[in-house]
This record gives sequence, C-alpha cells and structure tokens, in this order.
Amino acid sequence: MEGASEQVKPIMARCKLVDVDGVPLADYFAANWEAKSNFQSHPDDVVLVTYPKSGTTWIQEIVEMVRSDADVEFCKRAPVYNRVPFFDLTPHDSTGIGSGLDLIAELKPPRMMKSHLPYKLLPKSFFENDCKIIYVARNAKDVLVSYFNFERMVQLEPDPGTWEEFLTNYLAGRISYGSWWDHVRGWWDNKEKHRVLYIFFEDMKENLRRELIKVATFLDRDLSEDTIDRIVHHTSFSKMKGNPMTNYETLPSFIMDQSISPFMRKGEVGDWKNHLTVAQNEIFDEVYKKLMAGSSLTFKHEL
Ligand code: A3P
Repeated sequence: MEGASEQVKPIMARCKLVDVDGVPLADYFAANWEAKSNFQSHPDDVVLVTYPKSGTTWIQEIVEMVRSDADVEFCKRAPVYNRVPFFDLTPHDSTGIGSGLDLIAELKPPRMMKSHLPYKLLPKSFFENDCKIIYVARNAKDVLVSYFNFERMVQLEPDPGTWEEFLTNYLAGRISYGSWWDHVRGWWDNKEKHRVLYIFFEDMKENLRRELIKVATFLDRDLSEDTIDRIVHHTSFSKMKGNPMTNYETLPSFIMDQSISPFMRKGEVGDWKNHLTVAQNEIFDEVYKKLMAGSSLTFKHEL
C-alpha cells in the first residue's frame, strides 16, 4: 500500500539463555561480552544496578530529575532507556534499538547508565574508578510476579512458560540474570568495599521523599523543598504510567506487547498475594529461608 505507515513486523524469536561465568543471561546481554567486561569507565560515571523488575525505571527517572533540579522538560527529551542507557544490552539488529555501549559513548559526563549485572559480572573498571553505584532491591515475591508478566509481554525475552514453570525456574535461578538471591546478596555483601548506595523498592513506596533525599545526598545534590516536592510528584506511579517517556509505549508492540501486560503494571508491594497459592507460598518460603540463611539482609513483603 503506497504511503502506508504501518509497522512492518520483523520475524522475531524469543532468545535463549547463555551461560556467562555461571550466570544465565539472555543472549543479547551476553553478546559482545569481551567489550562489556573490558569497558573503561569514567570516575564520574553513575551506575544504577538492579535485579530485573526491582524499580530500575523508577530510579532512572528519579536520578534524571535529581540531577536536573526537577527539570521536567529535560526529562522529556527522550525515552528513559535512551537517556539512561542499558549497559548490558546488545540488541538483535532487527529491533532498531541502540546498543548500550554505543549510547553510553554518546553521553557527556557525568554519565548515568543502568545495569542488571550481578556483583561478580560488573566490569572491574567501575570499581577501579570508584564510580558511584545505586543498587535498588525489591522483595523476591513481587519481583517474581513482575518478572513473569514482563517475560510474557516482551516478545524477545526467553519464553517464561506457565506460571508454575516460571516459579520453578525462578527458585532455581534458571532465568535471565540468574538467582535473585545471589544478586541481592552479592551486592549487599560487597557494598562497603565500594561507593554503593543500597536502597529498597518497598522503602521508596513507603516514603519516596525520604529515599530520594538519600539518593540526592549520595549524588552531592542539595535540593530545595520545592524541588523535592516536584520530583515526588513527577515520579509517582500514576505520573510515570501516563508519561510516554517512562512507560515504554515508544517501543513497538513486536518488542513489548503491552496489551498482554503493561510495563507500568501495578507498582505495588504485596501483589504476590494475588498470585502465589498457599502451597506455592510455602515452597517459596522454604527455599527463601535456605537461600537467605546467614544474611543480615531483610525485606518487607507487605507495607
Ligand atoms: P510491577 O510489575 O509490579 O507493576 P523495572 O523498571 O526494574 O523493570 O521494574 C518495573 C516494576 O517497577 C513494575 O512493577 C513497575 O510497575 C514498577 N514501577 C515503575 N515505576 C514505578 C513507580 N513510579 N512507582 C511504583 N512502582 C513503579
């Protein structure tokens, strides 16, 4: 059809998991691994690290607002995934999305980027240069629910299978980025050795103002009361859900099919209660206890 502006749907296949140093990664995160692990950071780079579905987009937007003194126009200049690039991502050519390394190379310092890499896989250069790292952790049960829905709707992600299958694989760490337990514990156990601010999704839900002041202080930003108010307002769930620059609606449906599940889904603490059966919850708690044994790290599972 002449002049038709319909999206041509490329042939997409869900990707496979690849083992990187014992951690399963979706192939587009494992690709070009040597360049990623040899990445040369700048001392003023800031890395936002999370296990997937733990509030990455939320902290990306908060940091953008903090560093711009709550300049909403500055934060609307591009979708959040281009403003704060995804270090790990080497997309398949057919997606039309830029690679993390290319996008980062275009940034002017101070550069902000996001990564889902576990402690042991983050390139050493970030530690050698003592870069600031903000780690956001979210409770394992809400991550499970959010991750399952995300894998269903992102058409390139590994097939999550049924809820039951995904739960089994999640508990065994057989999903992209591996074990939630290894991830949150790895960063918790090593945070004192580096400049790491370790915060929690649940605390952000409980009192966003308090947590964003921690973030601003960590980034050496002294914000006025009015600026803080504007950041709290702009980064609320409902504002971010309605904002095309944060809700991922700028990606075509052959990548993210948000009719299956919206990217900004519920943003709650405790939604897992609507998904885990009593029996599944008991199994979960048993595994949880075993894998968290001996750690001082604790999570809120409800507010
Ligand atoms: P749900 O699927 O539970 O709704 P990530 O950005 O790491 O992929 O995490 C996505 C999760 O964070 C989703 O969780 C999303 O709704 C939630 N989220 C994003 N922005 C939020 C906000 N401003 N307030 C609360 N939750 C938010």
